[in-house]
Amino acid sequence: MRILVTGGAGYIGAHACVVLAERGHDVVIVDNFSNSSPAVLPRLAALMGRVPAHADVDLRDAAGMAGLFRTHDFDAVVHFAALKAVGESCEKPLEYFENNIGGTLGLLRAMKSAGVRNLVFSSSATVYGAPDTVPVREDAALRVTNPYGRTKLVVEQLLGDVCASDPGFHVANLRYFNPVGAHPSGTIGEDPGGVPNNLMPYICQVAVGLRARLSIFGGDYPTTDGTGVRDYIHVVDLARAHADALDFLQREERCETFNLGTGRGISVIELVKAFERASGRRVPFEIVSRRPGDVAEVYADPALANRLLGWRAELDVDAMCRDAWRWQSMNPMGYAGRAAA
Ligand code: NAD
Ligand code: UD1
Repeated sequence: MRILVTGGAGYIGAHACVVLAERGHDVVIVDNFSNSSPAVLPRLAALMGRVPAHADVDLRDAAGMAGLFRTHDFDAVVHFAALKAVGESCEKPLEYFENNIGGTLGLLRAMKSAGVRNLVFSSSATVYGAPDTVPVREDAALRVTNPYGRTKLVVEQLLGDVCASDPGFHVANLRYFNPVGAHPSGTIGEDPGGVPNNLMPYICQVAVGLRARLSIFGGDYPTTDGTGVRDYIHVVDLARAHADALDFLQREERCETFNLGTGRGISVIELVKAFERASGRRVPFEIVSRRPGDVAEVYADPALANRLLGWRAELDVDAMCRDAWRWQSMNPMGYAGRAAA
């Protein structure tokens, strides 16, 4: 298939491009580099066997998107492009709604004009908010708690309306739990830029000496060791699910929503210890007060993806830490010094 990958220069998108190329698909990247660096492109070329076709276009640029769909005859789209920082979304809700919902509208308009009707969408476990029970199934109540999460939920609903209006339009909503790790080559990985919001990149920056110590947000949760529990998933496993979702859309010709996680909860301290083992580095930490909006324990029930996609996570927490550390130690400042801020 010829696949358009929006946000393909970003963390998860880049890993997906590699898997899609390995499966024999033709990949075209569209990215405005608002949260990524063109320096990823030669690294992708080395992993994919050739420089991926790419366009520096914002999804909200109607003329640019129409031109892209005129130039290439796409069979499907994998839609990663979005802003993703929860804290920033609370400060800049208009930007998040404009970019994430406006960008998706731009993409859908271009797809409609070109008659492209298969879409894989990057959603998030954030749509479950604080779930009533774990593991979380796809039919759990949806209750978002911040503007970023709301943009994900609104896009899922928008896509549901588009599917209802056009029986030939098929969508796989993929709700990611906590993506971590990097390609085992160590040449592509997560490059957050500035102070990381998420746990694994923060641990990596402490281990490599960019930051003094990790602050653990809360040691008094009702969990095994008092720290928050999440479902960390290796980005290569996650990337593989996108290729499986495209096969599903082609085979089944219908819409579906899938959790993507391992089904196993890991505490902050367990992750720190696993990382220390994998890297041979100390990760000093202190326990501070809880981060507002955090929940004690969230992990997936991934049974639906196992059953309908034939997908399951294969890489364990040691592989996640080993590969995150390989990427960080080979690229201490990220792709182009983005970690320096
Ligand atoms: P990322 O920021 O690394 O990648 C997103 C890419 O999209 C960036 O390269 C950015 O430049 C591009 N982009 C953003 N807005 C654009 C626009 N209007 N036009 C063109 N390009 C645009 O993020 P990521 O971690 O790879 O996440 C990918 C997707 O997965 C996002 O939709 C995110 O919300 C979702 N997601 C991520 C996580 C996570 O922890 N990383 C968890 C759940 C869901
Ligand atoms: C965050 C986002 C969520 C998003 C997810 C994707 C918030 C409130 N939620 O969730 O919307 O879908 O990332 O990856 O930001 N922690 C520390 N110290 C740190 C960083 C994190 O102790 O410096 C703890 C957190 O309290 C949490 C765990 O580590 O218990 C994981 O945090 P994080 O990586 O930010 O992910 P989520 O909280 O699951």
